[in-house]
Amino acid sequence: MPNPDTIPSSQITPQDTYLNRRNFMRAGLTAASLLATGAAYRGLNRPGSTAVETPRLANLVVHTGPDGRGNGFQLDEPLTPLQSVTNYNNFYEFTTNKEAVAAASQQFVSKPWTVTVDGLVQKPKVFDLDEILQISPPEERAYRMRCVEAWSMVIPWAGFSLSRLLKKVEPLGKARYVAFETLLDPSRMPGQKSATLDWPYVEGLRLDEAMHPLTLLASGLYGRELPPSNGAPLRLVVPWKYGFKGIKSIVRITLTDMQPKTTWNNAAAHEYGFLANVNPGVPHPRWSQSTEQRLGESGRRETLMFNGYAEQVAHLYAGLDLRKNF
Ligand code: MTE
Repeated sequence: MPNPDTIPSSQITPQDTYLNRRNFMRAGLTAASLLATGAAYRGLNRPGSTAVETPRLANLVVHTGPDGRGNGFQLDEPLTPLQSVTNYNNFYEFTTNKEAVAAASQQFVSKPWTVTVDGLVQKPKVFDLDEILQISPPEERAYRMRCVEAWSMVIPWAGFSLSRLLKKVEPLGKARYVAFETLLDPSRMPGQKSATLDWPYVEGLRLDEAMHPLTLLASGLYGRELPPSNGAPLRLVVPWKYGFKGIKSIVRITLTDMQPKTTWNNAAAHEYGFLANVNPGVPHPRWSQSTEQRLGESGRRETLMFNGYAEQVAHLYAGLDLRKNF
């Protein structure tokens, strides 16, 4: 008998009606706020957005019961409309204009794709993307995403815990951090022709953060493969951290014994720390982090400690001064 908390979506909803059902549910939940939302919402969602159709994911597993919520995998909050999720992005490899990323990245080809997993591991390996996707069926996880720029979304990601991939390569005892790297190819990522950031985009986690079950290697959203704008074909999602930790279009994952360099910390160390845990009590030097604008909502909402995932992750930072380690 299948576990009711992890029923493949194909068994509870025909794949064809999946998106419609979701859209319908969301429409009901957000209709009131959409009507009430004025210039703020329109400012975040201008007309003329780009629709990029990607293939549906097979074998998607949806956590439906209280178990999913207890894990932090699901939320009782309206999902952010797909159009906003795919048309309001940060992806500097294409453009620094959030509303132009979808169009600028539309033609990005992410197949074939390999990911090298190396460093302090017993079994380093260059994985073909398909080998990675076969490690585990994708699970749908609706996570809050809080950007350091004080806007937020709720996104139904599809993927699996990064820990599953890391276990495959068998980390050595002295490994303490995990470094991530985006593709470097200015011919395919034209933003890399200018020096806005040091390329390639790099990010990092402590090993215990990387092994936490909430840390997601995502290959899809809204039941479909990731569109280029959101980091195709594979990106990181760490829901208790600011969005910039969620590195897109990953080609290398390296286990190390030293804290890796990270792109935004390199660019402005006093503004963007290594941990980058969502913390309403620690302002960015140029703006408050205490509230956020949820896309699709009017007004602002309070930002939650660890983005609402304190129950799951606060223990990772026990005894640490989070003002200093921001
Ligand atoms: N990854 C790469 N390679 N390049 C980027 O510019 N932007 C980061 C992060 N990952 C970025 C990246 C930032 S600042 C945010 S807020 C999130 O991606 C945005 O993810 P989304 O567009 O899927 O919402």
